[in-house]
Amino acid sequence: MANQKQGVRFAAVGDLHCTKESAGTLRGFFAQASEAADALLLCGDLTDYGLADEAKVLADELSVVSVPVVAVLGNHDYESGAPDQVRQILAAVGVKVLDGEACEIHGVGIAGAKGFAGGFGRGSLGAWGEPAIKQFVSEAMHEAMKLESALAKLRTPQRIALLHYSPVAGTVQGEPMEIFPFLGSSRLEDPLVRYPVNAIFHGHAHRGTLQGQTVNGVPVYNVAKPLLQRSFPERPPFHLFELQLTAA
Ligand SMILES: [Fe+2]
Ligand SMILES: [Fe+2]
Repeated sequence: MANQKQGVRFAAVGDLHCTKESAGTLRGFFAQASEAADALLLCGDLTDYGLADEAKVLADELSVVSVPVVAVLGNHDYESGAPDQVRQILAAVGVKVLDGEACEIHGVGIAGAKGFAGGFGRGSLGAWGEPAIKQFVSEAMHEAMKLESALAKLRTPQRIALLHYSPVAGTVQGEPMEIFPFLGSSRLEDPLVRYPVNAIFHGHAHRGTLQGQTVNGVPVYNVAKPLLQRSFPERPPFHLFELQLTAA
């Protein structure tokens, strides 16, 4: 249970890329996260190929977690065309998988969506030309709308957002510049400006930067597991974030 004095502690990590071979390898890490925090946040690419068997391994590994778990899916969870199966397997063990939805954990509102690609700022891909380009952009806009509708539902004084793709260029710095447009989209930042949150967590950019911010100064944390492992080899790879509770 959250400590009212300390606030609510979240352990956030993305890009677990769980495979069938991961059985037995994640539970120690999950136990540490569960010990350190009041809730666990998983930022997509939960599985490596989006296979039901991989999701079952992850569900099993999560059995050691005694705190609420909130997740979004990532692009890898779609690879085998069965994201609903991945979602159901995790939901069956109590994971709240958000896809344009919101939930409340220990008085903190959480809005979650996978997000999509398309690039940042002036480099954003526009809906112009071939139908395939328009379809690509419309997918990014659709994910931004899902995030917006989730954010609009939150009534708590403290709020956080979960994504897989990045809403800002700052946290993908470090990746090859050529692939920036595939790592996130500024279209995801727009709803976060209209409905401000206390913090935003995402993954996907395994070689990105740990922290950035939105145009309105909200901290954005890239919690991709490979990035956390490389940055802090001496610590378990989750980002611990504490949010002070304030009266409504
Ligand atoms: Fe990933
Ligand atoms: Fe990804």
